Order: sequence, then C-alpha cells, then structure tokens
Amino acid sequence: MNETAAWDTYSKQKPERRPVNAAGETTWFNWTQYPDHGPGAEVLSVPPGANVLDLGCGKGGNLAHVATLGARPVGVDMSMAQIKAAEACWPDVKLELHQAEATRFLAEGEEQFDAVFSVFGAAWFTDPAALLPAVRRRLRPGGVFAFSQRPPVEGCYGCQASYITRSEDEDPLVVKRWDYEPDRWAGLLEGHGFTAVTARVIPAPPGPRKIGTLLVRAQG
Ligand SMILES: C[S@@+](CC[C@H](N)C(=O)[O-])C[C@H]1O[C@@H](n2cnc3c(N)ncnc32)[C@H](O)[C@@H]1O
Repeated sequence: MNETAAWDTYSKQKPERRPVNAAGETTWFNWTQYPDHGPGAEVLSVPPGANVLDLGCGKGGNLAHVATLGARPVGVDMSMAQIKAAEACWPDVKLELHQAEATRFLAEGEEQFDAVFSVFGAAWFTDPAALLPAVRRRLRPGGVFAFSQRPPVEGCYGCQASYITRSEDEDPLVVKRWDYEPDRWAGLLEGHGFTAVTARVIPAPPGPRKIGTLLVRAQG
C-alpha cells in the first residue's frame, strides 16, 4: 500500500472535531496535539489579504481559521479522503484545496505565498532536503514558514517509521517521517537560506502527558 492510501485510511479513523473550543469559538488554530493549548495563528503574522498555504491540511481546521483572518486559504493534501473531509467540514468557508503531494505541488507552481505552514503535516512526512528548497522558492521574501510536530525520541534522528494502526487482524500501515532536535532543524533551515529561525519545544499542558510539541518558525 502506498503513502496516499495509508493517509486515506488514517482519514477515516480520526475522531469527530469538536464544534466549539474551550473559548466557545467555532474556528481556532492549534499547533499542538492537545486541545486549547499553545500559541495560535499569530505565529504566522498574516495580514488580511495574505496568501497562506497549508501543507498537509487534513480536514482543514487550521486553514478555516486562517480564512476568518481575511487571508486567502490554500490547502494541499495528498489524501483525497482528507480533501473530501475538509470540503464536508467547511461547506461555508472558501478554502482552495488541492489533492497533491506537497513537494510536487510546490515545484509545479510559481505563485508566491505570504505564509506557509504545516501542523503535524507534510513538513513532518517529507524529506526536508526536498521540501525546504521547494518551500523557499514559493515563499515571498520575508514571508513566514512555520511547522509543528512531535519532538524526536532521543537518539532517533532522520527518517523514522510512523505507524497508522488498523484493526486487530491487519498490520499497521507505515509512512516515513523526519525527526530532528530543534537546533538541527534550525541549522537545516538556515542551510537552505531561511532567516530569523526559531525552533523550540512547547511543553505539554499540566497532566499525565509529557510529550511536548516542536514548533519551528523561519522567514524566507
Ligand atoms: C497527521 S495528519 C495532520 C493533518 C492536519 N494538518 C491536522 O493538523 O489535523 C497529516 C496530513 O498530512 C498529509 N500528508 C502527509 N504527507 C504529505 C505529503 N508529502 N504531501 C501532501 N500531504 C501530505 C496526510 O494526508 C494527512 O492529511
């Protein structure tokens, strides 16, 4: 089974999204794996009218929030099941959605984006040697590129296997992801010409869960 089919399977397993967050809002931006936690869309510094691209947009929750800020929201996801779910979740929001592999989408177009982001998305599941130059080419000078993902397990760096579980009778599906410590991410981005790079781990909220969220932000 290929990666696209694996993500189609993943799409059907995710629980329903909450209709409102803890603040009673119907759209919100979350960089982390925990509800109502961490920074929001301000990380992207997008003024109204900005072109904003989400790499691996999934069901489009973050992108729909970007739309409420007056930006033009463009989403890319290799999984048609995810794209269809995003269309179904946000019938009243004008999202521009593309079913495509992220690096390919970036390589095939010319339009510049004011901000590019990825939340546990294609920036985690794509070799940065291919993705970073492709993002830089499509980001306007000074535009923001930001992405989040789980931090690496100590000692496990570079390409790692990620498992998408299925029923008890089926083997899990495997996709590849790329894990590095924050300093290494900063070096990779700077090596591809990004500036003002920050890379940090946002701690988990108080409670039993201890794994934080790696958040990387840079400018083109
Ligand atoms: C864990 S989900 C996260 C979805 C969404 N960003 C969110 O926060 O809910 C990862 C998403 O990235 C997409 N994806 C993974 N690799 C990709 C790639 N190379 N190109 C485009 N989409 C990709 C998957 O199809 C999936 O929808």
